Amino acid sequence: MYSFWNPVKVIFPVAGFGTRFLPATKATPKEMLPVVDKPLIQYAVEEAAAAGATEMIFVTGRNKRAIEDYFDRAYELESELVLKNDTQLLEQLRSTVPAGAKFIFIRQGDPLGLGHAVLCAQPAVGDHPFAVMLADELLHTAAGEPNPTAQLIAAFRATGKSVIGVGHAEGKSIERYGCVDIAHTDANGVMTLQGMVEKPKLADAPSQFGAFGRYVFDAKLFAHLAKTAPGRGGEIQLTDAIAALIADPSAGAVAVNMQAQRYDCGTKIGFLEATVDFALRHPELGNVFAQFLRERATRLPRT
Ligand code: G1P
Repeated sequence: MYSFWNPVKVIFPVAGFGTRFLPATKATPKEMLPVVDKPLIQYAVEEAAAAGATEMIFVTGRNKRAIEDYFDRAYELESELVLKNDTQLLEQLRSTVPAGAKFIFIRQGDPLGLGHAVLCAQPAVGDHPFAVMLADELLHTAAGEPNPTAQLIAAFRATGKSVIGVGHAEGKSIERYGCVDIAHTDANGVMTLQGMVEKPKLADAPSQFGAFGRYVFDAKLFAHLAKTAPGRGGEIQLTDAIAALIADPSAGAVAVNMQAQRYDCGTKIGFLEATVDFALRHPELGNVFAQFLRERATRLPRT
């Protein structure tokens, strides 16, 4: 079908201000906030690499230099660790950059919205299909299970259509997401879409399925993005371009209900939930942290 699905390219829009986490994000990108011991962006890049991605394209903005530095070699630190013969830490440090992956950084000059950010990456993507990952959606799958990005790539390969990764959003929470309008669902659970709206009111929501930060697109999306006028909040919305893609008879799109444990790390409560669960799963911290939580369940901290 798509003989040009190689290399696998992923766009990470990371230009947002992270206002929900101020003042923590005043001088640090929100994608660099750590969940236990790894920044959010590292989880996203690991998910991309495990799904076969070889080109990581970051659309950055002001105050995002830390992300570039993070994925660069840390020569001084590495030579210190070589001198100290600390091979374990050295290995950890080097493994932040997946072997063989190319890292590309593009500046989004004006913060015109998520759709505009994705369009900024077009010169690095060309005619390839590509994935988009929003790092503040942290999606966990057990070792050995295909991760959400791999699930979407498989659906893209099977259908030849752009794929929106969705999940069930309870009640009013659908108002925080791009919401898909489903025409029908096939035996494999793949939903053919007839529309998509950005952050609808619950009463107007065409379904309870929201876009949870993972997408795989046909390159035709770019033509629609280029024509997309500012929408909700005066921003060029990715969701509006997806709606145009769905309406394009030569394109269309499907949605897949992603199999994963999801943490909305764009909110403080989601971030805290992720921190607790990832600490409990952590090989060195899990047991001692679980013990701490058991104590806390009966005795709250002093104010
Ligand atoms: C963005 C998108 C929205 C999507 C959400 C996922 O919204 O515009 O369609 O559902 O990410 O987290 P934001 O959270 O940036 O307001």
